[in-house]
Amino acid sequence: MTISFEGRVAIVTGAGGGLGRAYALELARRGARVVVNDLGAGRDGTGHSDAALEVVAEIEAAGGQAMADGGSVTDPGQMEAMVARATHAWGGVHILINNAGILRDKSFAKMEIEDFRAVIDVHLVGSAICTKAVWAGMQAQNYGRVLMTASSTGLYGNFGQSNYAAAKLGLAGFARTLALEGARANIRVNTIAPTAATRMTEDIFPPEMLGLFRPDLVAPAALYLVSEDAPTGAILGAGAGVVQAANITLTRGVKLDEATPEAVAANWAAITDREGEIVPQSGAEQAMTILQRLQGN
Ligand code: NAI
Repeated sequence: MTISFEGRVAIVTGAGGGLGRAYALELARRGARVVVNDLGAGRDGTGHSDAALEVVAEIEAAGGQAMADGGSVTDPGQMEAMVARATHAWGGVHILINNAGILRDKSFAKMEIEDFRAVIDVHLVGSAICTKAVWAGMQAQNYGRVLMTASSTGLYGNFGQSNYAAAKLGLAGFARTLALEGARANIRVNTIAPTAATRMTEDIFPPEMLGLFRPDLVAPAALYLVSEDAPTGAILGAGAGVVQAANITLTRGVKLDEATPEAVAANWAAITDREGEIVPQSGAEQAMTILQRLQGN
């Protein structure tokens, strides 16, 4: 069945280039009216450009509908104004893709707290600010699809990216909780961990890989996660046309006979044994499994 976004209004942050641009173009091609947000910053988050305007022109040239927004995701007033403009023009916002991001890579030993804060501010707090700006409207219209952008760095770690990792895993936790809070109002919230050759990753992809890791090959996973029949609470990895699911798992664990650090050491193999591992659907489920172990199950 064709996945259509006809009649839907979508906001994509950081859509002046890279992955966000690819999402915006494909959403528009499939019928969505798209707000292309981007303040046009450099890779470290400083500076300005008209990147969003260019993507709007591209969408319009292809027969789609879009509006540009040059606001920063870190500014609640600007994000509220963006949502108000979209709602005024098009009647509401159904889809939000939190994609804007910056990098301030350095080993933690050399990282200033200012660089830690700046990255958390754009990725994590910025996503909260944008989501907050659409949330009440989505609840009122009983429809919303929100996508957070995590990263393999957040899920699994990467040397030199402690600030970015903290922000990105934070986003996955944010999404899992909003998936629970949004369920009653038909708001579904998912997470994508993309891999693509963009400005952000230009130093790490060898030239022969650029064609393989095109941003438009991530768009299918992102679009599915904001579609009518999207799941909720899912974390997908996507790159070069490969789509994977990531899960935060929990082992069965062990009820210690004696609650001592020595007993943890002695039981390490059993504690970390992945046989019977589960994927809890909420934090409360972990407490349930603890009670089960106490009952000898
Ligand atoms: P990109 O640098 O091309 O895109 C990021 C965009 O966000 C830029 O256009 C930038 O101007 C915009 N932006 C930065 N700060 C902003 C702010 N305060 N307000 C509004 N816009 C702002 O890089 P790319 O690769 O397209 O990244 C998109 C997202 O995907 C980011 O969240 C990134 O962390 C994430 N990601 C990308 C991966 C990759 O392999 N390219 C890997 C994992 C995650």
